This record gives sequence, structure tokens and C-alpha cells, in this order.
Amino acid sequence: MLTLYNLATIAAATIEKAKLYSEVQNYAQQLEETYLSTIESLAKAFEAKDRYNKGHMERVLEYGLAIASELDPNLLNDDVLKLALLFHDIGKIEVPDYILNKPAKLTPEEYEIIKRHPAAGEEILKPVKFLQEVAKVIRQHQERWDGKGYPDGLKGEEIHLYARIVSVADAFDAMTSDRSYRKAMNVEDAVQEILRNSGTQFDPKVVEAFYKAYQNGLIKVENSSNDTENQTTSLG
Ligand SMILES: [Fe+2]
Repeated sequence: MLTLYNLATIAAATIEKAKLYSEVQNYAQQLEETYLSTIESLAKAFEAKDRYNKGHMERVLEYGLAIASELDPNLLNDDVLKLALLFHDIGKIEVPDYILNKPAKLTPEEYEIIKRHPAAGEEILKPVKFLQEVAKVIRQHQERWDGKGYPDGLKGEEIHLYARIVSVADAFDAMTSDRSYRKAMNVEDAVQEILRNSGTQFDPKVVEAFYKAYQNGLIKVENSSNDTENQTTSLG
């Protein structure tokens, strides 16, 4: 039978353990926060370098969350989705400036260099345990629903849902922003282009959610160009 003394000892040990546990938790959380702000600085530094991509991270976050809210509002509470939307292109930090800012179409060799960015982004985030799922989504954000994307040629639901969301948000922002080699498309044309690529480049369910979000006024483009010139979807 447990004596009062025993009970008190167990209680004290439990409290001690709980304290230690919460200290470890706090420390781990501090480390996570430090790592996240480091990545954020890295991403911001990259964005400053890529002059045609200013504000891309935040806009992709905004469009992606608008899509997610139509798919399932619970997704809005998941940091993995938010971090993947924000940091999807962080691997582009490894792409030389002359390629990022080239005022003409890329050569096949330059395009191959650009195509390394999803795997490069994965490498940046993967060493941290709590960012591993974000890293996986980032690796997959240039995959296509029909299997013709890169780097792994995954198709359909083999691709993480969040990567399928990033893909639509990313392409929409790329089309509605000026790039070094072309002007922005107008919003209505960009929406039509997303719809046209449903079931080939993009997951039809994600496109449907995107279109609903657009119709509900959740997707707005600031300073959009009125240029109606027809464009193809982005290289990402
Ligand atoms: Fe990308």
C-alpha cells in the first residue's frame, strides 16, 4: 500500500519530470522558432535578389489559403501548409541571378538548373525534424497531376495535397505578375488558363476550389496588368 510519504515522493518526482519536460519543450520550441526565422530571412534575402518575384511568397500564401478554405477550412490551422506555401521556392536561392533575371526565354541548360530548385528546397528544410513534411511538399510542388512534372514524375494523389495547392497558387501568381521576359497576364485570362489545365497540370478538385475562391472574392490581384496577351503557365 502506498504511504503518504511514497505518494508525496512520486508526486514530487512527477512534478520534477513535468518541469524538465516543459523546459525541454520550451527549448525545442525556441530552437524551432530560431530555425524558422532563419529560413524566413533566407527566403526574404532571396526574394530581394529575385527582382521580378517581389511579394511572391506572401501572394502564394494568400491564394493557397483561399483555395484551402474552399477545400476544407480545417486546413487553415495547419502550419505545414502555410510554411510550404511561403517557402516553396526557397531552393531558387541556388539558381544564379543571371538565370533568375534573364530577360528572355531560358535555354534548355538553364531550365535544367531551374528544375533543381524543388530538391534544393527540400535539402534546406529536411535536416530539421519538424520541417520534414514541409520539405516533402516543397520537393513535390512542381509535379503535375498528369505525371509530367518534376523532379520525380509523381502523378495524381501520389502528390501531397499541399503540393497540389502550392502548384495552382504558384502558377496563378506567376501568370498575374510581370516577369523578366514578359508582362503579367490579366486576371480573367489567368483564371481561364488555370481552368484549362485542370486534370492535366492541376488536380481538378484543387482547381474547383480555386475557382470557387475566385468567385467568392477570396482571390484578388493587386496592380494587375490589363495586358490580354495569351501566355502559357509558369515554369514556377
Ligand atoms: Fe517553384
